[in-house]
Amino acid sequence: MPSQASSPTYATAKGFCITSAFWMMVATFMGLLGATELIAPDLLENVGWLVFGRVRPIHINLVLFGFVTPGLLGAAFYYLPRLLRTDLYSEKLGVITVLIWNLSLVSTVVSLSAGYSQGREYAEMIWPVDMLVVVMFLLVLYNLIMTVRQRREPVLYVSVWYACAAIVLTSATYCLGNVIWRPNTGALVGIPDAILLWFYGHNIFGLLLTPLALGVTYYVIPKACKAPIYSHTLSLIGFWSLLVVYTHIGTHHLLQAPVPTWLKVISIVDSVGMVIPVMVVLINIWYTAKGRLGEIHADVGAKFVFTGTIMYFFVSIQGSMMALPQVQRVTHFNNWVVGHAHVGVLGFSGMIALGGLYYVLPKLAGKPLFSKFLADFQYWMVLIGVSGFTIVLTIAGLIQGNAWLNGETVYRVLPEVHLYYVLRASLGLMIFTSALLGFYNIIRTLYFNTGEFSS
Ligand code: HEM
Ligand code: HEM
Repeated sequence: MPSQASSPTYATAKGFCITSAFWMMVATFMGLLGATELIAPDLLENVGWLVFGRVRPIHINLVLFGFVTPGLLGAAFYYLPRLLRTDLYSEKLGVITVLIWNLSLVSTVVSLSAGYSQGREYAEMIWPVDMLVVVMFLLVLYNLIMTVRQRREPVLYVSVWYACAAIVLTSATYCLGNVIWRPNTGALVGIPDAILLWFYGHNIFGLLLTPLALGVTYYVIPKACKAPIYSHTLSLIGFWSLLVVYTHIGTHHLLQAPVPTWLKVISIVDSVGMVIPVMVVLINIWYTAKGRLGEIHADVGAKFVFTGTIMYFFVSIQGSMMALPQVQRVTHFNNWVVGHAHVGVLGFSGMIALGGLYYVLPKLAGKPLFSKFLADFQYWMVLIGVSGFTIVLTIAGLIQGNAWLNGETVYRVLPEVHLYYVLRASLGLMIFTSALLGFYNIIRTLYFNTGEFSS
């Protein structure tokens, strides 16, 4: 891989890393609060801005736009200039983007907790906040495109493709999904609205988190293994097949709704076809790492990223199964899907965001990690937390799904799943604690690294 032109400040990359570490704490706290309210629904009944219906969208939007995306962007703003053998086009613009990004997150928390919501999953933010989000994506896009234009490296490595595609496509799908040309409602009407919403909602995972995470993976794994990527041809097949297959399968979220059958059929067939882009990438990455797992184990960032690839395998195989109508009759509308969501967003893209962050952090700081022990501890807490989430939520989902198929009412099943809700909250407490430790470690590494704790 190419080396860099001059010694940069990395202000933008640092800004995104701190943003990610900070909002991970807030996001996981909101998740924990929501989980506690599901165990004790009357806990905060008189505090309107803390009811579950407001806490849940805050949790979700903060994990997506506060923790995972900025974490992946933090790594991208480090690796892109290096891969392109140039400096970032404008660090100043990057820092302004980070500030607008944080302003949009604060506005998200304030508006959603005050009850201002578009009421559409993953598109809850109201129009003024949407505008901030669109501006921040466009600013990132401008900085990336200009950096690509001024590059001194003629060949575009696959990580550059993934990062640019994620930002270009999300700038468009965000506007579409939030129906920004209708500021009053942010929605169309009826079934067309549901189809459009899930086209967008699905592509937040498929065209934002997934390509950004794969971009980081394609950078970190060969670097950590000190080996070239196994196959450049496979990396191109993986990239283009992701764009072709992933973009239009959002209707698998609506198999129980009266949407046109042809749309359902396409979404089911291509959800199964997702096995191609997923396995092509994983074969490429795993073959690159073959015989070099020692190097990966020695670097905590690479360890996070590699574990994220294993989670990608599990969540994708599970996802393809969940798109089959016979399976979805049992798994839809219950905690099975919440389990899948956490393996995907935390286990796959969240793990890789943390991995990218820990991999680039010493390079940004020009010093070793403040504490490799704390980073490793966080790795295990997140891994145990997300694996535990998957197990307990899958069991809870199967209990709910089977009971409902047998004609049981929702409230009679609640006592059956109570234990699993308690276990979920306990595991969540672990993940929240790990976020606190991670924030401390990251700030100490960047700004107060006396070195006494390093290992
Ligand atoms: C940074 C890590 C996390 C990520 C990326 C994440 C992601 C998500 C996502 C995507 C959803 C939406 C699920 C769906 O609608 O199917 C969700 C819901 C939820 N999450 Fe998290 N989460 C994280 C951490 C936590 C933690 C620590 C807890 C605490 C227990 C938690 C508790 C919840 C709860 C209670 C819901 C709502 C479930 C429901 O509606 O029944 N999450 N999370
Ligand atoms: C081959 C890849 C995948 C397929 C075929 C797939 C399929 C599905 C399906 C069918 C559902 C809807 C389930 C239902 O409502 O009954 C779903 C939900 C979900 N998926 Fe995936 N998935 C895949 C990968 C991923 C990845 C990589 C992520 C995260 C980065 C992810 C995140 C989610 C989330 C958060 C939900 C919950 C949406 C909601 O709030 O209802 N999925 N997935």
